[in-house]
Formats: sequence, C-alpha cells, structure tokens
Amino acid sequence: MQEKSPIPSKQVALTFDDGPDGKYTPKILDILKQHNVKATFFVVGSQVSKYPDFLKRIHEEGHAIGNHTWDHANLTKLTDAKIKQELKETDDWVEQTVGIYPSMVRAPYGAISASVKETVEKTGRPLIGWNVDPRDWAGTAPKDIIANIQTHTKPGSVILLHCFGGKKGNLDNTVKALPDIIAYLQKEGYQMVTIPDLK
Ligand code: NI
Repeated sequence: MQEKSPIPSKQVALTFDDGPDGKYTPKILDILKQHNVKATFFVVGSQVSKYPDFLKRIHEEGHAIGNHTWDHANLTKLTDAKIKQELKETDDWVEQTVGIYPSMVRAPYGAISASVKETVEKTGRPLIGWNVDPRDWAGTAPKDIIANIQTHTKPGSVILLHCFGGKKGNLDNTVKALPDIIAYLQKEGYQMVTIPDLK
C-alpha cells in the first residue's frame, strides 16, 4: 500500500469589499462563475438593503460573506455600542436576505485598535485583513493591478479587491483585470478559496 505524501496547499483568497451593488457585483460574479472560482465578499449593510438580490446571488453561487459594517464606518472613531450597532444591523440584513450570519468581519480602511479588535471578537468572529492590496479602487491600470498581485502573492495570501465604490464610483479596471488575475493564479498553481476554506 502506498502512502500519500502530503501535498503542500497552495491557496489564496480573493476578497471583494464594499458591495453589493447592481453594476459591478454582477459583472464580478459572472467572471467568477465562468471560471468556477469561489471568493469572499465583505458586504456593507446599507448596500445589502439596497441590493438584496445581488447578496442572494453571492450566497447562491457559493461565495462566503463577511460583515463590513453598516455604512463603511471607521470603527476606531466609534464607541463600543456604536460598533456593535454597525455590525448588528448588517448581520440582521444579511440574515433576513440569505438566512445566514456573516462568519467574519473586516474593518473598513483596515482601521483597527485593540479595543475595536476586542469588541468585534466579542461578537464571536474573527477580524479579517488582507496582505495583497493592488489598490484597484484608486483606478490603478489593469496591468498594474496584475503586476502588484504577481509581486506580492504567496501561499495563504488574502487579496483585496472591490465590487462597489472606487474613485468616482468606477471599478472598470477591476472587472478588466479579474480574468487575467484568475488566469495568472491558476497558471501558478494556486487554488482560489473562500476565507473560511483557506488553510
Ligand atoms: Ni471597504
């Protein structure tokens, strides 16, 4: 009998923040579906309340959902009570829309303090950051988004992208770059997984 040698996992997580919306989120979902890639969406509660159908699509297509506050608040500027309210309102909208609670939280702007961390973790969930940031929201050219990802991605990386917002509301470059990002990661042997599935 042959023993299997352990295969080192070469995984990365694509994450999409600030949605859902009715313009970019469906385009991103189409591309992910076309390539059979699962990602994680950190959603903003006020956007969920405006675009519940796109949250349903995110959920139905097998992506993971995280809480990104109600109105993209800088949590370091809020009281504990207000932080809890930001998270709870978003949790409630997600639960009412797709029947599950977000299993993780991402702080807008990555703005975290010791007390924010404690308050969030008391709600029983981890705070999730990122370690690859190609600044897609800033209108970075698709080739520069890809170059940044090529330079910084390692096994276990969490890549930050957006599905709503951006400078002047424009995320065209994210949509343009995404098929090439996926192609690059696949060529390098990476499996793209959700944050909960990241080993
Ligand atoms: Ni954000």
